[in-house]
Amino acid sequence: MTYSSLRKGIILAGGKGKRLAPLTKSISKQLMPVYDKPMIYYPLATLMLCGIKEIMIVSDPDHIGLFRKLLDNGKEWGIDLQYAIQQKPEGVAQAVLIGEEFIGSNNVAIALGDNIFHGNDLISILRSADSWNKGGTIFAYPVSDPENYGVLKFDHSGSVIEIEEKPKKPSSQYAVTGMYFYDNTVIERAKKLNFSSRGELEITDLNKSYLNDQLLNVKMMGRGIAWLDTGTIDSLQEASLYIRTLEYRQGLKIGCPEEISWRQGWINDNQLVKLANNLSHSSYGEYLRRLLEFKIKDPLSN
Ligand code: G1P
Repeated sequence: MTYSSLRKGIILAGGKGKRLAPLTKSISKQLMPVYDKPMIYYPLATLMLCGIKEIMIVSDPDHIGLFRKLLDNGKEWGIDLQYAIQQKPEGVAQAVLIGEEFIGSNNVAIALGDNIFHGNDLISILRSADSWNKGGTIFAYPVSDPENYGVLKFDHSGSVIEIEEKPKKPSSQYAVTGMYFYDNTVIERAKKLNFSSRGELEITDLNKSYLNDQLLNVKMMGRGIAWLDTGTIDSLQEASLYIRTLEYRQGLKIGCPEEISWRQGWINDNQLVKLANNLSHSSYGEYLRRLLEFKIKDPLSN
């Protein structure tokens, strides 16, 4: 089934990855492997599953060239990839300002380059957010350590009344995930933000701007969806094991941009063969070849 969105996508792949040092001393966190592919493949796949084909990758001056080397202009995958530099790690919301020209008059989805999502209802949840053209949409996910995230506060009727960035005493266990859908007013809203005490333009403040105008749509991601953390050595290892367990059992890959593109009809069989041949010595390339050989026709999956 082909699904195309008019929305632009931005992946923010910056940050120092300090908690993963020394692994991140010479390589960007978002280029590190999560089982069989670089981390950035997963948010890229998530945006592609939303039908988004025009995507800008934002990273720091040291690493932007490595992302370009890995992903190029996206043509071979039937998408359009662009690159932009964030000079200093000055917050997620700064990606909107960096991408102002790229966003133009469109709506935008921002994905954090270290956020991995997987699950049955994921596609329908994302696409319903994509179809919402006014305001902003964020996703709430229950976690055991909300103090490490943006956290939602609810009133008695269950409506969101506040969002707090990494609160010492969280008022709920619902964290805000690193996937955000915004209408075009996001550009003006981002311009009005002030730097926080940690020196960043906070995505939480951007979300609050929508919340204050009653234009924030909060969707729950429930038990059927995995939102994996990759911030520490252990969580990175766990994410790899999660992906390995499912891929090994099902023989289907998670977060495989080539497959998503092929299933969406953005590239044809011949283009997929070419991509498979370029990776002919790896199990990844073998998987792409097998997709065609057996014409695995299961429903679009991530
Ligand atoms: C960022 C956001 C936070 C959000 C999190 C999701 O935090 O500031 O609100 O919950 O991403 O991954 P960071 O970990 O980048 O500081």
